[in-house]
Amino acid sequence: MQKLFIKETKKLNGEVFVQGSKNSVLPIFAATILCSSPCILHNCPKLSDVDVTLEILKHLGAKVTREGSDVFIDATKVYECSVPRDLMSRMRSSIVFLGPMLSLMGRANIFLPGGCDLGPRPIDLHLSALSKLGAKFEKSDELLYCSLNHIFKGSTIALRVPSVGATENIILSAVLAKGETIIENAAREPEIYDLCNFLNLCGAKIYSDNVGNIRIVGVDKLHGIEYSVMPDRIVAATFMSATAITGGNVVIKKVNDRHLKAVIEVFERMGCKVLTSKNEIRIISKKHLSSVDFIKTVPYPGFPTDAQPILMAPFAISQGTTVFCESIFKDRYKHVDEFLKMGANIKVNGKIAVVKGVKEIIGTDVMARDLRGAAALLVLSLIAKGETVLDGLKHLDRGYENIVEELNGLGANIKRM
Ligand code: UD1
Repeated sequence: MQKLFIKETKKLNGEVFVQGSKNSVLPIFAATILCSSPCILHNCPKLSDVDVTLEILKHLGAKVTREGSDVFIDATKVYECSVPRDLMSRMRSSIVFLGPMLSLMGRANIFLPGGCDLGPRPIDLHLSALSKLGAKFEKSDELLYCSLNHIFKGSTIALRVPSVGATENIILSAVLAKGETIIENAAREPEIYDLCNFLNLCGAKIYSDNVGNIRIVGVDKLHGIEYSVMPDRIVAATFMSATAITGGNVVIKKVNDRHLKAVIEVFERMGCKVLTSKNEIRIISKKHLSSVDFIKTVPYPGFPTDAQPILMAPFAISQGTTVFCESIFKDRYKHVDEFLKMGANIKVNGKIAVVKGVKEIIGTDVMARDLRGAAALLVLSLIAKGETVLDGLKHLDRGYENIVEELNGLGANIKRM
């Protein structure tokens, strides 16, 4: 079992490139099975979640080849309509295959999905929306038998909450449906627009008013294209956090600053200087960081839940008290117990975490329990006195391509052994 051995770091300095977005590439991979000719996708990050998705595609009958960050997918002969338990349980977003599989084959037998354990993560919105478009579901133990009579039929779907995964599944079901589908209260995350952009270039007709209404006019056919996946905004936020906590000065390249407005605003209120230009963010941090009264995680364009653990790290050493309210997932403070072991002062009560900045963080053995919690521990370890040993790297590897090499390139001292 590999671990990270992290020594206290001076200021991070230099330039770093952001990988392609994990949360964007996964639904785009699922979308390729709807294309009647092959696709070439660029900027695909090398991650365990990406490997699992490619395994699912191969299992379904697609030809997949990968060269660096380029992935070639010929899914024109997909025939298999079940996804094995092992692949389904390794990643929650495997549920986005449901709509495309039904659309293409009229049948899909899937196990209930896995992924980060952030509390209850139901798929009721996916199932009720796809039912409205004509799908039928029968559940037996953990297996879900899904079927569709002939073809999806367009409908109006109002989502109770703007679920990212459910919005993606509806879009992927509706692009080849008969008639028009309207999604009300759709998720507005940039990854949704990346998927829509990809599909429209493949011949789909998806229109969005950018305030949560998406209209999809079903077409008969989609064709394959060459496409470059958007940059990973949460990985960019991780580099910003690592720079902020060490008092560094780093240029983050190949990033879209418009995707990070809410996050940038928090870094500015923390006392960092953030300069943005085309595809670049420079963050300059000072020695003493300030607290921010209140940060609530909300759907995009608000402050993202995925950035909550990662930004909690600099606040653990800031001057004053910061209150977080996690409104998206019930169990997203698992990193806090490990922060406490390192000397942080944080009190959690339900959705609220009260973070009182301390003068010193001490290196010790810590265990990552989910993907962004792993990144948060790595960031906090950068300023810990002595050495931190970070276990649970399978979580980190789900979302970060070369983070150890990238941080070491900026001046960190991290060994993976
Ligand atoms: C996606 C992201 C994840 C991010 C999250 C919120 C991917 C692969 N993952 O996850 O990184 O943290 O968006 O931005 O893109 N819900 C229901 N019923 C459903 C579906 C969701 O009640 O059928 C609830 C969830 O419990 C949660 C909220 O809706 O409270 C948002 O979840 P959702 O947007 O669906 O998250 P994911 O798509 O799983």
